[in-house]
Amino acid sequence: MAVLLWLLILSAFHAVALAQQRQFNITLGSSLTPTTNSSWFSPSRRFAFGFYEQTNGYAVGIYIVGMPNKTAVWTANRNSPVVPSNTVLHLTNDGRLIVKVGNQEISVINPSRAIASASLMDTGNFVLYDSDRNVIWQSFDNPTNTLLPGQHLSAGQELFSSASEADDSFGFFRLIMQVDGYLVQYPANTPYTAPYAYYESHISGVGNNVSLNLADDGLLYLLNSNNSLKNLTRGGYRRERTIIYMMKIDADGIFRVYSHSLNQQNSSVIWSSTDDRCDPKGLCGLNGFCTNIDAQAKCMCLPGFDFVMPGNWRAGCERSFPTETCRLKENTSKYYDMRTVENTVWEDSTYVVLGGTTKEDCEQACLQDCNCEAALFKDRECRKQKLPLRYGRRDLGNSNLTLVKVGINFIHNEGVPNQTVEETKGKKLRIDILIASITLALFALLVLGISGFLIHRIHVWTCRKIQESRSVQLCEDVAPRAFSYAELEQATSGFKEALGRGAFGTVFKGILAEGQKVIAVKRLDKELVEGETEFQTEIKIIGKTHHRNLVRLLGYCLEGSRRLLVYAYMTNGSLADVLFKPEKQPTWEERCGFARDIARGLLYLHDECETQIIHCDIKPQNILMDDQFCAKISDFGMAKLLKKDQTRTYTGIRGTRGYVAPEWHRNMPVTVKADVYSFGVVLLELICRRKCVDMSLDENEAILEYWVYNCFDAGEIDKLVGDEEVDRRQFERMVKISIWCIQEEPSLRPSMKKVLLMLEGTVEIPMPPSPSFLSSI
Ligand SMILES: *[C@@H]1O[C@H](CO)[C@@H](O)[C@H](O)[C@H]1NC(C)=O
Ligand SMILES: *[C@@H]1O[C@H](CO)[C@@H](O)[C@H](O)[C@H]1NC(C)=O
Ligand SMILES: *[C@@H]1O[C@H](CO)[C@@H](O)[C@H](O)[C@H]1NC(C)=O
Ligand SMILES: *[C@@H]1O[C@H](CO)[C@@H](O)[C@H](O)[C@H]1NC(C)=O
Ligand SMILES: *[C@@H]1O[C@H](CO)[C@@H](O)[C@H](O)[C@H]1NC(C)=O
Ligand SMILES: *[C@@H]1O[C@H](CO)[C@@H](O)[C@H](O)[C@H]1NC(C)=O
Ligand SMILES: *[C@@H]1O[C@H](CO)[C@@H](O)[C@H](O)[C@H]1NC(C)=O
Ligand SMILES: *[C@@H]1O[C@H](CO)[C@@H](O)[C@H](O)[C@H]1NC(C)=O
Ligand SMILES: *[C@@H]1O[C@H](CO)[C@@H](O)[C@H](O)[C@H]1NC(C)=O
Ligand SMILES: *[C@@H]1O[C@H](CO)[C@@H](O)[C@H](O)[C@H]1NC(C)=O
Repeated sequence: MAVLLWLLILSAFHAVALAQQRQFNITLGSSLTPTTNSSWFSPSRRFAFGFYEQTNGYAVGIYIVGMPNKTAVWTANRNSPVVPSNTVLHLTNDGRLIVKVGNQEISVINPSRAIASASLMDTGNFVLYDSDRNVIWQSFDNPTNTLLPGQHLSAGQELFSSASEADDSFGFFRLIMQVDGYLVQYPANTPYTAPYAYYESHISGVGNNVSLNLADDGLLYLLNSNNSLKNLTRGGYRRERTIIYMMKIDADGIFRVYSHSLNQQNSSVIWSSTDDRCDPKGLCGLNGFCTNIDAQAKCMCLPGFDFVMPGNWRAGCERSFPTETCRLKENTSKYYDMRTVENTVWEDSTYVVLGGTTKEDCEQACLQDCNCEAALFKDRECRKQKLPLRYGRRDLGNSNLTLVKVGINFIHNEGVPNQTVEETKGKKLRIDILIASITLALFALLVLGISGFLIHRIHVWTCRKIQESRSVQLCEDVAPRAFSYAELEQATSGFKEALGRGAFGTVFKGILAEGQKVIAVKRLDKELVEGETEFQTEIKIIGKTHHRNLVRLLGYCLEGSRRLLVYAYMTNGSLADVLFKPEKQPTWEERCGFARDIARGLLYLHDECETQIIHCDIKPQNILMDDQFCAKISDFGMAKLLKKDQTRTYTGIRGTRGYVAPEWHRNMPVTVKADVYSFGVVLLELICRRKCVDMSLDENEAILEYWVYNCFDAGEIDKLVGDEEVDRRQFERMVKISIWCIQEEPSLRPSMKKVLLMLEGTVEIPMPPSPSFLSSI
């Protein structure tokens, strides 16, 4: 009896021990390396947490075990996911989960409290516990691009696609469960507004707590607090331990439900959000359009355009012919001709609509307007466009015509087939494309060589490059990269060549060993936001801003108290260098071009990027010039990197009226309109070719704002022109725009959108009131 009891106790004990083993407790002090002991497994070894291979290294994440290619369902540190093979992942004794690369420690997951243990569940959920065994973090609450059965995407959460099949860093598409109950897909880096959406679940009025759920039979459904609202998949698929269903937003922007068979080691798609691979907006970069050939997406360039980076569609297309400087109201038909692309749809960014036209009228209208770079024609309506064109796709059911202005030399001299893309049917198309693209590629090389030479020779000041540099790597397209301090120290040869000092630190010139790319490294010395996480959040926001009139943030370094930012190097200095140097002053047209560039950059920061960014420090020193003399705004987002209480003081200390909006000096909220004010001052400087405060001048001319308004008010703007030959009407317009911008009352200042329209000459400019600064001195 006693023996029996003993046996019972023993077996009970054994069962408990087994259960504990199955619980799979990852204890403090455990570690993993990519080459040996690469993973921690879930109890039944369906899932593993640890290192998995990527193109150029290893990522840390959760993957399905036993699939031929490790199929990741969650990835850590998607900003910079790959680490080399000598990395070690530690669950440290003081409760942090980190990877160690050399001497650098990067946190993998950063929960609010110290970790006491971790486990990977059989569901694929990786859970971190504190010492009271409370869950402090779990991967199911922090999805990356995949949902597993039992996991849900709750209101406000989003999934981001990976950059490519073999690179799980942030990609170009996202799927968000909006708080208004809609499940919507957008390209990354666009506002959450309807014009950018390319998928939405058609349900509305269902409350603010809708979630997307996946069940273990492959049923993908939307649920609110009350009930199941909509089933996206049919569900009812085989439930077996050896089959794992998952929903994933793929690198191509489409989300699909997969079934993975562990026994057969294969997978199949059981449902996808669309069958049309051209649906995701922005699959093809700027000036390219997507076309479905044999159910595969293919990108093509507009006629006269060529891929910026062959093999990388996302980089878009650029002109393969030289362009002329735009002179207002010039008949450009001696340089350009119009080409037609049929059945294509684009984002509508029309700046002028002409009604009741024929196709020929539309072509002529575009040729006679130097600002017009393309036109969309449909139903006797001609919509003039500026490049770049975005979100292009072929839609055979659509009769819109795209008319593109193409350099005349391109068409006649080289005998390039003018029919590159007009053909739409049959096999002929594909052969045409092949021939055309080979010819185009050869021709583009030739044009590139010649135009590179010409650009150097004649010193073109206009802005026409789409991409900053042909050598930009794909990874730089995605997010800023983390650099080590040592790397940057080496790139700048020990911070030797200082380019200048700004409000936040010193800028050094450097060269990256890989690719010999020239960079500008800003070593920050102001006190910045405390935590690493906040710094990284801000960096992420800044890194997501891509615009040709903004200086690109390529990377950053965050080591202890060291904070550095890495930017693309701008060869031609700042607007201050260009504008205030008496030797070679830019012409009136060039200055108008700079004004439009700056306005476009600001408009993007204010209205078009994901998080609104107020620059707070617009001045000529912060406008940089690239090798094409395209003006690019730098230092944006810096206000956010400063400690909160410093944002006010750092501009306040300047004292002089300068570029700073009056609300900074009062206790008024600072909005985007503060940037409009500073822009107005820079515009005055561009108009008058002098600094805003110049005490060496006569007393009533010393402060530019007062002088300009006084001259304008007295009807004597000729005084401002000096000895320069300018279009007087245009000059007056520019003066009026700047007076609108420097209004004392923020609400009277126009938005940047309005400013740009006024600069482009497409809207009338009313008579500005007195800025009324005279009363407030
Ligand atoms: C898991 O590990 C933690 C700390 O190492 C320990 O406190 C806890 O009791 C363990 N849990 C189980 C179920 O083994
Ligand atoms: C790695 O795994 C082997 C067995 O596969 C084991 O003997 C060894 O102790 C492990 N090393 C570490 C550091 O866990
Ligand atoms: C695994 O990856 C290789 C190369 O990356 C690819 O060719 C192959 O199709 C992949 N296999 C599966 C099952 O996805
Ligand atoms: C849930 O049901 C309750 C009662 O049936 C109803 O009042 C409420 O509006 C519903 N909520 C939503 C979000 O549909
Ligand atoms: C939201 O819905 C989830 C189920 O989908 C439910 O558990 C939760 O309590 C709801 N929250 C609110 C505030 O209604
Ligand atoms: C979705 O499918 C489930 C199970 O098949 C069913 O119970 C539910 O009523 C369906 N919901 C809708 C909205 O059709
Ligand atoms: C795997 O392959 C087998 C045959 O090769 C097929 O019957 C099965 O449907 C496949 N499973 C999946 C999930 O694709
Ligand atoms: C523009 O120039 C072309 C050829 O040079 C000519 O045919 C056309 O009439 C001109 N248009 C205008 C409005 O001057
Ligand atoms: C093209 O045509 C469609 C309707 O067929 C229309 O909705 C769209 O606005 C047109 N324009 C552009 C820019 O695609
Ligand atoms: C383009 O091709 C069409 C038809 O092949 C031809 O009629 C036209 O003259 C060509 N245009 C130019 C500018 O070569």
